[in-house]
Amino acid sequence: MRTPVKPVTFLLAFTLLCTLLGLGCPLSCEVCRGSGPTCSGKMKVCEAGQDACVVIVGESCTKGRHSLNTYKACMKYSDCYSGFVSTTMGPKDYMVSNTRCCQSDGCNQGSVPPPQNNRTENGLQCPACVAPFQETCPGTQSARCVGQETHCVYFAGNVQAGLISPKFATRGCATESACYAKAGAQVPSASYLYFLRRADCLPAPQFPGRAE
Ligand SMILES: *[C@@H]1O[C@H](CO)[C@@H](O)[C@H](O)[C@H]1NC(C)=O
Repeated sequence: MRTPVKPVTFLLAFTLLCTLLGLGCPLSCEVCRGSGPTCSGKMKVCEAGQDACVVIVGESCTKGRHSLNTYKACMKYSDCYSGFVSTTMGPKDYMVSNTRCCQSDGCNQGSVPPPQNNRTENGLQCPACVAPFQETCPGTQSARCVGQETHCVYFAGNVQAGLISPKFATRGCATESACYAKAGAQVPSASYLYFLRRADCLPAPQFPGRAE
């Protein structure tokens, strides 16, 4: 009986062949999603245009429900921000994450440290709202920024949730690193994949009454 060809062997042979032929070799990355500080999954060959592997560990709070999740996949390098991102839409709606983007086969295996979650208010405020299934968001409420959040963001687009991709719109506080997300980009978080149609990012205004 012939021993079956292992997927890893196939990937190696495939990579070697396309290197020898001088072709632009597609990248392969580990792909998984799960709860906890890491996840493990199969190696997959990335689609055309996806020239980076990503690993994200994120802690989020949605309507007071906490979760820690990990996401590993292929993505476009120019849409990928390596580092810490924090967003706060309200006292019970926030997300912090650490991301690493890299560009060699399987480079997203392993994990990144869970993000720091500094909930100390820093005196800044931003217009805030969370509007699932909506195209826009009024921002009539206000969020108190925490930790290193110095910017106000307005994100809108579609969010992939299983097989459907409903609209969403949201506003609130964010670290300056969130400004890396641009309209037109596909931006993963530890829990969801976002297709951004709108991505505004401005320094948070200083509110009157703040001593300094
Ligand atoms: C947490 O955030 C506050 C407000 O920005 C800051 O003063 C403090 O130094 C931060 N703490 C840590 C441990 O980073």
